[in-house]
Amino acid sequence: MDKIRIVGGNELKGTIPISGAKNAALPLMIASLLTEEKLILENVPRLADVALLQRILGNHGVDITTNGKRNGDDPYAGQTLEIDARVIVDTIAPYELVSKMRASFWVVGPLLARMGVAKVSLPGGCAIGTRPVDFHLDALRALGADIEIDAGYVLAKAPRGLTGARIVFPKVSVGATHTALMAAALARGESVIENAAREPEIVDVADCLIKMGARIEGAGTSTIRIEGVPRLKAARHAVLPDRIETGTYAMATAMTGGDVMLAGARPDLLEDALETLRHAGAEIDATNEGIRVRRNGAGILPVEVSTAPYPGFPTDLQAQLMALMTKAKGRSRITETIFENRFMHVQELARLGARIHLDGDTAVVEGVERLTGAPVMATDLRASVSLVIAGLAAEGETMVQRVYHLDRGFEKLEEKLSRCGAEIERISG
Ligand code: EPU
Repeated sequence: MDKIRIVGGNELKGTIPISGAKNAALPLMIASLLTEEKLILENVPRLADVALLQRILGNHGVDITTNGKRNGDDPYAGQTLEIDARVIVDTIAPYELVSKMRASFWVVGPLLARMGVAKVSLPGGCAIGTRPVDFHLDALRALGADIEIDAGYVLAKAPRGLTGARIVFPKVSVGATHTALMAAALARGESVIENAAREPEIVDVADCLIKMGARIEGAGTSTIRIEGVPRLKAARHAVLPDRIETGTYAMATAMTGGDVMLAGARPDLLEDALETLRHAGAEIDATNEGIRVRRNGAGILPVEVSTAPYPGFPTDLQAQLMALMTKAKGRSRITETIFENRFMHVQELARLGARIHLDGDTAVVEGVERLTGAPVMATDLRASVSLVIAGLAAEGETMVQRVYHLDRGFEKLEEKLSRCGAEIERISG
């Protein structure tokens, strides 16, 4: 298994190109199941999760071609996928695949809407919490599907197609909003989704569906209206920039000090996180090129933050913020409200010398003068990258194990950071 070796202490200086968003690319690829015509997606990041979803879609009979790189192409440019779901050969998504990546469960909506039937494995447990799928299933039931659970599988049927309905989510869910949106796009009549997730990735998927001929209004607000259409058509769409990758490198820069341009980043996608970083003492400027993050000699100031659905502070940046706060001048409080078990990084950060204690769903972080390198590992993607951030500011060597977590969501992480002066390398093993 590969490891990442970091020797901390260097400031970050230079440019980091921001990739397309993983959490938009995945549902966009899944949306290809809704049409017999070709969906062309540009700016798709090169990530293990994207490759895995290609395999999963391949299992349903979807044909995906990746445009090869030509000499002289920007090495950081995203890939273009041509996705052709003309023939769906199999409406079953097996446990072996769905258990590897939760988001693949989301095929249930499009398969059911287009084929009238889907058999999709329940995703099972997950390192960051229990993460049930009840909202997804309730939304599909509201649209007229008959749903049964049998032997770990969801059997969904709607032989005469889905019918528009009012769907009210009890709690904001990104995935369930994707499911409802995609299924309602092909349902007969009007659907209204209330308490919908407002995340930019929902807006990106809705924009793509609209290009495919869907009739959707209100994406990005809590109420989305969809007028179902009988079929969707070919489209071309570019994935929006990754706000979590953006926030991660912004925090890394705030942690080490320095001056980094996050090229292609969109500040409007993470205003709350950027404001938090300003409070912590970073200088943040939006420019035509992207977001410039600087911190000079001044120390990091503590913050009090609660994660919340968009436009609040994202849970996917909670671990990274905690890493930053380990070196703040004083006490920070970071409350996790989305997932009940998303604090696995706490014990690993402690291995580097961080002082954190948990008080229910709040982590109380007492900033320390110095962190010291150590071997660490994490059980999920964002927790792993928080250890990289801490390692960049720790004295001596930090070895991050289980790098496959990072490869799921961060494209060319060690390359992007070492180009800015970090001492970081991958050790194959
Ligand atoms: N929930 C339910 N029932 C459901 C669905 C969700 O109780 O049927 C609960 C969850 O357990 C959680 C809350 O609702 O407590 C919100 O979960 P949500 O459905 O919004 O999460 P998700 O759609 O499974 C996506 C991202 C996550 C991100 C969350 C929250 C993708 C592929 N995943 O997950 O990203 O943390 O939204 O913003 O978009 C990551 O990228 O590292 C990651 C975990």
